[in-house]
Amino acid sequence: MTLENMPLVEGLLKYIDEKVTPFHMPGHKHNGRSFEELEIIRENLYGMDNTEVEGLDNLHIPEGIILEAEMRASRAFKSHRSFFLVNGSTSGIYSMILGVTRPGDKILVQRNCHRSIHMACLMGDLKTSYINPTVLDGFNAAVSLNINNAIEVMDNNRDARALVITYPTYYGTCSNLKKIIGEAHKRGMLVLVDEAHGAHFPFHEGLPKSAMELGADLSVMSLHKSTPALTQASLLNASDRVNLEGVKFMMRLFQSTSPSYVLMASLDASRNIMETRGKELLSDLLENTKWFREGIKNLGAYEVLDEGFKGKAHIEDIDLTKLVIKSQLGGRELDMILRRDYGIQVEMSDLYNIALIGSVGDTRESYEKLLNALVDISRSHRGYNIIEESLKMPSFSQALSMREAYYRPRRRVKFLEAEGLVSSEMIAPYPPGIPAILPGEVITYDIIEYTKKIKEKNIPLNGIEDSSAEYIYVVE
Ligand SMILES: Cc1ncc(COP(=O)(O)O)c(C=O)c1O
Repeated sequence: MTLENMPLVEGLLKYIDEKVTPFHMPGHKHNGRSFEELEIIRENLYGMDNTEVEGLDNLHIPEGIILEAEMRASRAFKSHRSFFLVNGSTSGIYSMILGVTRPGDKILVQRNCHRSIHMACLMGDLKTSYINPTVLDGFNAAVSLNINNAIEVMDNNRDARALVITYPTYYGTCSNLKKIIGEAHKRGMLVLVDEAHGAHFPFHEGLPKSAMELGADLSVMSLHKSTPALTQASLLNASDRVNLEGVKFMMRLFQSTSPSYVLMASLDASRNIMETRGKELLSDLLENTKWFREGIKNLGAYEVLDEGFKGKAHIEDIDLTKLVIKSQLGGRELDMILRRDYGIQVEMSDLYNIALIGSVGDTRESYEKLLNALVDISRSHRGYNIIEESLKMPSFSQALSMREAYYRPRRRVKFLEAEGLVSSEMIAPYPPGIPAILPGEVITYDIIEYTKKIKEKNIPLNGIEDSSAEYIYVVE
């Protein structure tokens, strides 16, 4: 057999051959810890890959083994009802938002949310009001919400149906979700939580509390990110306060009619690992990340997000299983050196930081390797400091809903000459990942100036077709 005819298979085998140390998703980390549950799935991969035959079940109307597995998940994840998702948290976010709203409803959204939330607003023709996140200076990362600011937005939008919160952020930082939930419920608003990065929270008291424990109405978790499930395997959790008819309808709409049994099996297995040994495994993981933080502290070349940042930029809590490391070399350069010279792959890097995802699949050796590499790099790459002050976000003003903007005819104009026109595109500089403009918003002088400065700093612009932002599509 020649691999040349299967470029994708060949590429994946090459990555396996490299024996890279993964600090990225999925959380099983290629099953380096040989979890028995995952080995059973691996050994029976083809036998388990099935359709809805007699004796099995149907994800869209679960009555048998899927329902039983979901009930167990609901107990483990402390929800009233949990649903398996085979199309990632993305499908769960679409389902929870569109399942509790009607076209024209208003929802309040954290401005730096994942694109699936913006896309749900577009599909559902929702009116949006935004809550701006706080940015942690130095790291230049959007990390939390100022509770007073959130309350002000709620008070100015008493007619909002729901509030959508990201908890935790990609960086592991958490807002004061309990307080936000209390304030939103007082005003009759539902709280929907994008908990994609917090699937491990229910299993250790040293971690932030899960959204369900804090009283959220619905939450969505990527079990493939921080627990040992296969990519896309996710969970939608519901409290008993929500009428689930709409949410169930949307899950049927947004998910495949051929849901993968292998992914569902991995959800069941991952739940079992977390429920039976999660606490002990997470204690190991927290011990490893603590050991790592201690080791890197005195090198001088790095700064690591740790407990000391609680209270700064309104950070209420921090998930210490994640490592966010600010480097004098800059995040991108450090990311490249780690992969090229040390065989270590991080989850994400931006201009300033690298972000690493820890999970119960990690081994102690991975952290030793990482620390040794960073010690080595700090010795051999003494150098420049690229850290600069962060820029102030310009304010925004909405002229049309995102959906109206998307479906209106559009034309391409020079960005520098676009003042006063309505954008048909998003511009989201990363870092800090907060959109400077969204479709339907007016392009102001301040936004043009901000984008010019961002470009001068070589910060990548996401969302816009012409990533150099020479041109932009505007609504006719
Ligand atoms: C904050 C956040 N929410 C939602 C998602 C979507 O999750 P999934 O990849 O499981 O669809 C992501 C993906 O990275 C994310 O970072």
